[in-house]
Amino acid sequence: MMKPLILVTGGAGYVGSHTCLSLLEAGYPVVVVDNLSNSKAESLRRVEKLSAKKLFFYPVDICDPEALKKVFMLHSVGAVIHFAGFKAVGESVEKPLEYYHNNVYGTMVLLECMREAGVRTIIFSSSATVYGMTEKVPFREDAPTSATNPYGRSKLFIEHILLDLCVADPSWRVTLLRYFNPVGAHPSGEIGEDPRGIPNNLMPFVCQVAVGRLKELQVFGNDYPTPDGTGVRDYIHVLDLAEGHVKALEAAETQQGAAIYNLGTGRGHSVLELIRAFEKANGIKIPYSISGRRPGDIAASYADVQKAEKCLNWKTQRTLEDMVRDAWNWQKKNPEGYA
Ligand code: NAD
Ligand code: WQD
Repeated sequence: MMKPLILVTGGAGYVGSHTCLSLLEAGYPVVVVDNLSNSKAESLRRVEKLSAKKLFFYPVDICDPEALKKVFMLHSVGAVIHFAGFKAVGESVEKPLEYYHNNVYGTMVLLECMREAGVRTIIFSSSATVYGMTEKVPFREDAPTSATNPYGRSKLFIEHILLDLCVADPSWRVTLLRYFNPVGAHPSGEIGEDPRGIPNNLMPFVCQVAVGRLKELQVFGNDYPTPDGTGVRDYIHVLDLAEGHVKALEAAETQQGAAIYNLGTGRGHSVLELIRAFEKANGIKIPYSISGRRPGDIAASYADVQKAEKCLNWKTQRTLEDMVRDAWNWQKKNPEGYA
C-alpha cells in the first residue's frame, strides 16, 4: 500500500534532515518546507544521495500563509512533522518577539493551512525544556510543565494550542514529542549538526574543539549534586530520535486526540563522562577548564521512557560511544559544516 505523503517543516535542519532520511527509507514520500534560516539545502541533497530517493523541497517560510497554502494545494499531504522554529535559548531572551513570532505564529499559520486542506495529523518537536526547573528525575510525561525562557515558553504555548485543538475538534491527531538532548550524526558522516557561529550546545562545542576551530571547552559548573559534580543529561543519538518520529507516525494512524511522549534513552551522562567517552572513542584529547554554572541550567535531566517504549514500540539502539564517534566522524569529514 502507498504510504501517505509527509510534509516536513524545517526538514533541512539537524533533526529534520535525519528524520527525512528515516522517512524515505521507511517508504514515505516527503515534502520539505524550510526557509533555510538555520540550515543549507545541501543537507537535503545529501539525504537524497544517502537514500537514493527524491524528495520535494520548497524554500518557504511557514509564517507566509500564501506560500504555505500553495504547497498544500500542490501536494496531497497525509500528515505533518513540524520542526521549523528557532531554538537558541540565550538568543530567545534577547529576541523574544522574534521567537514568539517564528515559533508560535508560524505554528498558527501552519495549523490554519492544515485545517483548510483537511490535514489533521501533526507531530510536533517539543522539548524536555518544558519540564522547567523540576528536580525530580526521571521526567515523566504527566509531570508539571513550566518554562524559564522565551524559547521554552514558545514550546509550552504551542503544546497548549495543539492540546486545545484536540479538545475542540477530536478529528485532530496530535503527537507532542519531547526530545531530550539530540547529538551525533548519520554514521556515513554525510549529514550532521551544523550550528551557526559558536555552538551553544555541548557536543558541537566539543567537536569544534577537537577539529581545532575552538581552543578549549568550558565545563559549566562542577558543584552540582551529581556523581561527579557536572551536569547530567539524557543524550540521544539523532538517528534513534529520527526513528522515533517514524514510529510516532505509525502510532498516529490509530490514535485518537493528543498524545505526549518523551524521546530519550532514559539514562543520564555527565559532562565529564561525555568528554571521556569522546576522547576514548576518537583518540583525541579535549582541553577543558571548569568555569561557573550557566544561568538557567539544572543539575540533572533524563527521561522516563516507559510510555514511548510501550505505546510507540520504540527504544533507542545506540550508545554514548556511537554518539561521540558519529559526531566526530561528521565533524572531521565536514570541518566547516555544509559550507
Ligand atoms: P535546526 O535549527 O537545525 O532546524 C530547524 C529548521 O527550521 C532549520 O532548517 C530552519 O532553517 C528552519 N526554520 C526556522 N524557522 C522557519 C520558518 N519560519 N519557516 C521555515 N523554516 C524555518 O534545529 P533542530 O535541532 O533540527 O531542531 C528541530 C526542532 O526540534 C526545533 O523545533 C527545536 O526547537 C526542537 N528541539 C531541538 C532540540 C535540540 O537540542 N536540537 C531539542 C529539543 C527540541
Ligand atoms: C548540556 C550540558 C551544560 C556547553 C539545551 C536546551 C534544551 C534543548 C537541548 C532545545 C549542560 C554543559 C554545555 C558548554 C558545558 N534544546 N555544557 N559547556 O542545556 O541540556 O539543553 O539543548 O529544545 O532546551 O536548553 O544542552 O548541550 O547546552 O548542555 O559544560 O560549552 O553540558 O551545562 O550540563 P541543555 P547543552
